[in-house]
Amino acid sequence: MWSLALYLILCALECARAVTVYGQQPYSATDAPAATATTYAAYNTSTLEAPSPPDTPTNDFTIELQPSNDTVTGLGIAQTYGNLWGFSIEMSVMNQVIGRNSTHLQPPFLNLMQNLVDRGGPVRIRLGGNTQEFAFMVDELDGGKAVSKQKADSRNPTETPAVIYTMDMFYLMSNVSSLVDLHWILGVPFNDTNWRLEIAQYGTQILQDKLIALQIGNEPDLYAAHGHRDNGYSPATYSDEFGSCASALAAADIRVQDFLIGPSVATGDWVPEDVWNTGFIDRHRESLGILAVEHYPDNNCFAMYGANGSPKVDQDEFPLFLNHTAPVSLIQPYLNSSQIALGLGLPFYMLETNTASCGGFSGISNSYGAALWALDYGLQLAYSNFSGGMLHVGGQNVFYNPFTAPPGSRSAYSEFTIGSIFYSALILGEALGPSGTAQVLDVGGNEGSIWTPQYAIYENGALARVALFNYVTDASGAHNYAVTIRAAGLPGSVRVKYFESAAASVAAVSDISYAGQTFGNTFEVDGVLRGDLDVHTVTCDGESCNISVPAPGFALVFLTDEGGSGEESTKTFATTAQTKTLNTATVDPSVLATANGMTGKQRGQLGSTSRGSVTNGAARMKIGLVPMTAIMLGGWIVWIWL
Ligand SMILES: *[C@@H]1O[C@H](CO)[C@@H](O)[C@H](O)[C@H]1NC(C)=O
Ligand SMILES: *[C@@H]1O[C@H](CO)[C@@H](O)[C@H](O)[C@H]1NC(C)=O
Ligand SMILES: *[C@@H]1O[C@H](CO)[C@@H](O)[C@H](O)[C@H]1NC(C)=O
Ligand SMILES: *[C@@H]1O[C@H](CO)[C@@H](O)[C@H](O)[C@H]1NC(C)=O
Ligand SMILES: *[C@@H]1O[C@H](CO)[C@@H](O)[C@H](O)[C@H]1NC(C)=O
Ligand SMILES: *[C@@H]1O[C@H](CO)[C@@H](O)[C@H](O)[C@H]1NC(C)=O
Ligand SMILES: *[C@@H]1O[C@H](CO)[C@@H](O)[C@H](O)[C@H]1NC(C)=O
Ligand SMILES: *[C@@H]1O[C@H](CO)[C@@H](O)[C@H](O)[C@H]1NC(C)=O
Ligand SMILES: *[C@@H]1O[C@H](CO)[C@@H](O)[C@H](O)[C@H]1NC(C)=O
Repeated sequence: MWSLALYLILCALECARAVTVYGQQPYSATDAPAATATTYAAYNTSTLEAPSPPDTPTNDFTIELQPSNDTVTGLGIAQTYGNLWGFSIEMSVMNQVIGRNSTHLQPPFLNLMQNLVDRGGPVRIRLGGNTQEFAFMVDELDGGKAVSKQKADSRNPTETPAVIYTMDMFYLMSNVSSLVDLHWILGVPFNDTNWRLEIAQYGTQILQDKLIALQIGNEPDLYAAHGHRDNGYSPATYSDEFGSCASALAAADIRVQDFLIGPSVATGDWVPEDVWNTGFIDRHRESLGILAVEHYPDNNCFAMYGANGSPKVDQDEFPLFLNHTAPVSLIQPYLNSSQIALGLGLPFYMLETNTASCGGFSGISNSYGAALWALDYGLQLAYSNFSGGMLHVGGQNVFYNPFTAPPGSRSAYSEFTIGSIFYSALILGEALGPSGTAQVLDVGGNEGSIWTPQYAIYENGALARVALFNYVTDASGAHNYAVTIRAAGLPGSVRVKYFESAAASVAAVSDISYAGQTFGNTFEVDGVLRGDLDVHTVTCDGESCNISVPAPGFALVFLTDEGGSGEESTKTFATTAQTKTLNTATVDPSVLATANGMTGKQRGQLGSTSRGSVTNGAARMKIGLVPMTAIMLGGWIVWIWL
């Protein structure tokens, strides 16, 4: 069968050359404040020093867990979405990371998303950010593009340009959702109050139930500072505008009830309570579907834009991300609001976040340490009764992207680059799983040490998994630890998956793997995990299991036979080839839509055997990893059984 598969691929490559032409839009130097650097920030692999370990060694410790959720106090609410981490994609870059238009999608993006769907169920994508505010619709754009951008807005410190889009943007999103189970959030442009409702109108019509909510106002507390509103702009004015926008939507016959997101404060100039105290919730109760905030714990605005505060030294900022206090203190200001949301039966989202605003920090945002932070942060959000969080994706001029398309200057390489925090999203999806019942407890063992946080995850009311962190970098072994997990009814053995850095350092920005598998380094990512799956089996003695965690390290412990699913990818979207002008799949959506219906059960019946990949010289097309791979070419789909 191998030779047949290879034959089909080689033939397919030949055919494909004639078919798809796709030019990546490079960011010009004027768009990128970091353009003085030789490499765009998104591909920058500078490293920092790992902070030195604390003086006291880490001792082994024991955690006692309740087997059932009904006797646990302080457990977080059930997570409807196992993929608690979704992504907030800056509207102006969707043409790079998601696709040029409805018929030219980026296969690496689809593959990355499918990995999450396989583990935690549907993935939420919020398309928006600063660029949503000035967005406007046009009939047509050059070269069949669905999205483009106008000039930069000089009044906005993050210098984000206005997005221009066509009707095809909605078909692009819809077509993505027909291939991979993505749910969308869109925002109504808010730069002025002459409401432009096309995004809401066509978004609801075309995306239907794949559009889960509409954001009304984005970081309104920064509108005055960014020059989008007068200085007197207050939470009460925002509440009035929210009402005005909702009325306009209703008048245009666009869904409003239980559908709108507010107030999405950045917690810059206002705290959420400033908005609650205006009577916002009572006033808009019927239209609100989700309450949300947005926040970055740090900023790099001075270095990136010469504005806003004083310069920061990357090395000095690094330790601020490397202990459990980081996510706990970030979320603490929102605990009152998460209780308010819970009391109303409304989900509460961290709608946009990442390591640091204004692009993040080199050596921090893409490090193994940041991945530990984002994983701890995600679990802490679940424990704190949030129902979602979106890691922000900007252009090529930021350090923090979970995934980035190749730059125009390297369009010979069709491969993406992922940031370490993509692994955090993947592992969180696996830790919570797709059941919709996952509840998270911050265990607080080891006397609440900030270096070794632990979480317990309950599924269908029963203890199912344990997540163990070690933030310390120490090659001496003095900060490795072994934890004894005690609980009634533990099985005879448990499975453990490690998230590791080959360099054994929080400062590592490459060679990161989860359960032995990796997406690859800069410019190497096609969205498919490579390498042999490495799952450890640990024998337990009835009431306790002893798990070791290196410094630094993370272990996900599966206490039942369930879970850890997602190892079998349901489908793979292959790039057609990699030449300078040819680097994305041409997709006939109607064909793909019908190819999408294979269930896990059917997959199981096909019987999977080998793992691994076949690399075909210059084309480097991966096959394998799945029993059946779909290759899409020139509007045709080729199925290959391996
Ligand atoms: C990476 O970013 C840092 C900080 O902006 C910069 O000093 C360095 O020159 C960049 N590296 C490359 C290769 O561009
Ligand atoms: C808001 O954005 C639209 C579309 O980009 C633009 O036409 C309009 O002038 C903007 N309004 C203000 C007040 O800047
Ligand atoms: C997408 O872009 C390609 C390349 O420019 C073009 O050939 C194709 O017609 C476009 N598709 C749509 C739906 O506009
Ligand atoms: C995909 O986009 C095309 C427009 O290019 C549209 O005709 C088709 O209906 C879309 N398919 C889906 C499933 O939305
Ligand atoms: C929680 O928020 C409400 C509404 O703004 C406010 O009245 C209350 O004082 C807050 N409670 C705490 C503990 O901050
Ligand atoms: C732990 O993280 C917090 C929050 O960023 C920071 O303030 C603190 O300095 C860090 N502690 C150490 C010992 O690095
Ligand atoms: C989450 O909500 C539960 C009530 O369902 C509460 O007991 C718990 O304290 C909340 N967690 C946090 C961190 O506020
Ligand atoms: C325990 O889990 C079950 C099943 O997911 C759920 O129905 C129940 O509400 C949970 N109980 C508590 C106290 O969280
Ligand atoms: C747990 O395992 C470690 C080695 O991995 C060992 O040093 C330690 O004694 C074990 N602890 C228990 C309670 O068995």
